[in-house]
Amino acid sequence: MCGIVGFTGINQAAPILLDGLSKLEYRGYDSAGIAVRDGSAEAEIVKAKGKLKVLREMTNDGNAVTGTCGIGHTRWATHGEPSTLNSHPHSSDDGNVIAVHNGIIENYQELRAKLIKKGYVFHSQTDTEVAVKLVDYYYKKYLGTPVDALNHALVRIRGSYALAVMFRDYPEEIYAARKDSPMIIGIKDGESYLASDVPAILKYTRNVYYIGNLELARLTKGNVIFFNLDGEEIQKEMKTIEWDAEAAEKGGYEHFMLKEIHEQPKVVQDTINSVMKNGTISFDSVGLTDEDMRSIQQIYIVACGSAYHVGVAAQYVIESLTSVNVRVELASEFRYRKMKLIPDSLMIVISQSGETADTLAALRMAKDTGIKTLGIVNVVGSSIAREADNVLYTLAGPEISVATTKAYSCQLVAGYLLALQFAKARGEITDARFDQLLAEINTIPEKIQKILDDDKERIQWYSAKIVNIKDAFFIGRGIDYAIGMEGSLKLKEISYIHSEAYAAGELKHGPISLIEDNTVVFSIATQRDLYEKTVSNMVEVKSRGAKLFGLTTYGNYAMEDTADFTVYIPKIDDLFAGSLSVIPLQLLSYHVSVGKGFDVDKPRNLAKSVTVE
Ligand code: AGP
Ligand code: GLU
Repeated sequence: MCGIVGFTGINQAAPILLDGLSKLEYRGYDSAGIAVRDGSAEAEIVKAKGKLKVLREMTNDGNAVTGTCGIGHTRWATHGEPSTLNSHPHSSDDGNVIAVHNGIIENYQELRAKLIKKGYVFHSQTDTEVAVKLVDYYYKKYLGTPVDALNHALVRIRGSYALAVMFRDYPEEIYAARKDSPMIIGIKDGESYLASDVPAILKYTRNVYYIGNLELARLTKGNVIFFNLDGEEIQKEMKTIEWDAEAAEKGGYEHFMLKEIHEQPKVVQDTINSVMKNGTISFDSVGLTDEDMRSIQQIYIVACGSAYHVGVAAQYVIESLTSVNVRVELASEFRYRKMKLIPDSLMIVISQSGETADTLAALRMAKDTGIKTLGIVNVVGSSIAREADNVLYTLAGPEISVATTKAYSCQLVAGYLLALQFAKARGEITDARFDQLLAEINTIPEKIQKILDDDKERIQWYSAKIVNIKDAFFIGRGIDYAIGMEGSLKLKEISYIHSEAYAAGELKHGPISLIEDNTVVFSIATQRDLYEKTVSNMVEVKSRGAKLFGLTTYGNYAMEDTADFTVYIPKIDDLFAGSLSVIPLQLLSYHVSVGKGFDVDKPRNLAKSVTVE
């Protein structure tokens, strides 16, 4: 996810573009750029790796770039590492088409190959450059209008985009196109604006149009015309923004954490799509070959915090589907142990930031022994992404809240896809079972959405009842235990309530002595083969006075005979239930923290990326 802006009007464009981009930096920035035209003169393109301030300094806050029409971009890389070359705007080699893009062109490789055959040359590693040159190709092929060129190009693009485009033959105009990525268009007397999000234009105008999916727009000074993909004009109603600036950055949500919880259906789908090709999994972009997967006898998963919890869940899935042994280690412990790593093994390091010191150290230790390494990382070009032999990127976009939610969920799904591909490469799964499980994985986004739609009020109501508790326990078996770990961490890190996760079978070995009247116990019971045993553990703690929050799958209504409050998740293969059972626990922690009046997004003592030991 990134930020795009556009302006055409009476005033100088560059300062307005830079100001708008500064309001979008929360959407991620590893590089930035602007393109500005002065009348019909060639556009001036200035772009730079690093934060927006680098671009500000290069352009004297935009004052060194003249012109009243321009586009701008802060990049959150998905294709091609952060660099000046990969930063936006991208243009056709002759400057005929210049554009900025937010989104993912899933079929960029096949389009790129076709354009190369047509004589196009590519300089960057990005998917965006392919989209720009595809528009240029159709503009020249059909000698039509920009809307014609965009329509011909967009029907051939799979993926998501918010595009702002300038055409040399149409000075002072900006063309926009949108599918799945956000974009709004603002108008006031003599000036037209476009942006990824409200904050970028709020200081200039509150009069906006929400361009719809698969719609185009032509911005002239103080006016906008909308088109559908057939090139027919469509009418749209102007809206007035009521939000204040701070609310606008969070898309109207009170906190980034809640916004990121609700982004999960989309970013999980994006992550799934990133390794799908012709209807099946392809790790071409990851680098691990089927032969690699067949040669690996042992997997080590090493990470910290929530990423470690992903490893614990992934361990169950990989071991269920393959003959590979999996060990999961805390990076902060692993790096000081003298573990003998088996030669034919793979170390998987999981990290949202890609900069966690302990995890990076573990990766370097593995590389020193010569074993294969794979990073599951959310930040393109981060240290772990650059140093791991192979990288599977999660496409969660920038995660602002310290408490991870959407990145965690994307990591979890990445683990499933890896397990499935390992099983297939090793001939340890039938085609029918592979197809069935892949289909199940593809139902996760919609099932997360259903939980968000159905349960948020109930969970908010329950959260109010436990705001003042001092202790909480999370119990589960197998994957449910792994999810309990994450639920416990979420609760403690943002509501400061002491919380512990236990393998349910472990209670009788000591922890049950802590259970007394009104002790709150969250019990996760989604694993069919372990359900009865977990319910037995629930009865044990209930008989000692515990108050039980039951989390299980629709159909297990008998849970209500034991639990004081029950939340159900949609049915799904046990292997992937964790992606659903974690959602109510995220919401629960969020609402408890809000109920206690804490700074949900910036909890005390914590940092988003722990780059120290
Ligand atoms: C999770 O909510 C915490 N913010 C923390 O445990 C985090 O998961 C851990 O520090 C690992 O960070 P990373 O994924 O960036 O490596
Ligand atoms: N996929 C494009 C790139 O990697 C755009 C990413 C973004 O939305 O910032 O450059």
